[in-house]
Amino acid sequence: MWGPEGLDEVEAELLGPPEELKGRDVLELGAGAAQCSRWLAAQGARPVALDISHRQLQHALRIGAPFPLVCADAGALPFADGSFDLACSAYGALPFVADPRLVLREVRRVLRPGGRLVFSVTHPIRWAFPDEPGPEGLSVSASYFDRTPYVEQDEDGRAVYVEHHRTIGDRVRDVVASGFRLVDLVEPQWPAWNTSEWGGWSPLRGKLIPGTAIFVCVRD
Ligand SMILES: C[S@@+](CC[C@H](N)C(=O)[O-])C[C@H]1O[C@@H](n2cnc3c(N)ncnc32)[C@H](O)[C@@H]1O
Repeated sequence: MWGPEGLDEVEAELLGPPEELKGRDVLELGAGAAQCSRWLAAQGARPVALDISHRQLQHALRIGAPFPLVCADAGALPFADGSFDLACSAYGALPFVADPRLVLREVRRVLRPGGRLVFSVTHPIRWAFPDEPGPEGLSVSASYFDRTPYVEQDEDGRAVYVEHHRTIGDRVRDVVASGFRLVDLVEPQWPAWNTSEWGGWSPLRGKLIPGTAIFVCVRD
């Protein structure tokens, strides 16, 4: 699943035709509980699920992960050059790092020539709107151009959650400057069948503004 709209890889085929996933080495970045890797393994691919959070990977283990789980920072990948055919990420790692080019360059390094990276992030336009599912989430309340990160702190002032904003142009430049060719930028529409509300996600907002941006990149 690429995002809360519900677009899944069976429908989107952004990693290529499903029959070609068989036997492919795939790196999942910011895998969380490794939902995507589990689906990839079921297609016959050979996923490696990477996340910086040990806790998330414990959830992956509990649910069942018959593939390697690697606890590491996406900006310092513990793999040899040219180890993977594909890399993917559904809202993993990239929105949470101050220097996305570091991650993208690392992914490029571990991909084989011709390899593909597909990653989804919150659509940058959402930065300008309150994160509310109702009508209050439909009025611009902040500058789209303000790159100040969103930070939540604990009682000792320690950052416990950080999200970094990049405009669409920033993301395109990050991809290109890191040595990838951008072949598609998918903005899934909210489908009629999806009636669920979750955090700031809702059919009301989904009908009017995009919520997810999916970047399809090739390492030539
Ligand atoms: C919003 S969750 C997405 C999880 C999963 N991809 C999914 O679709 O449910 C973001 C994940 O990125 C991971 N993450 C954040 N920064 C990271 C980094 N620098 N390197 C690797 N993983 C990171 C988090 O630990 C978290 O599991």
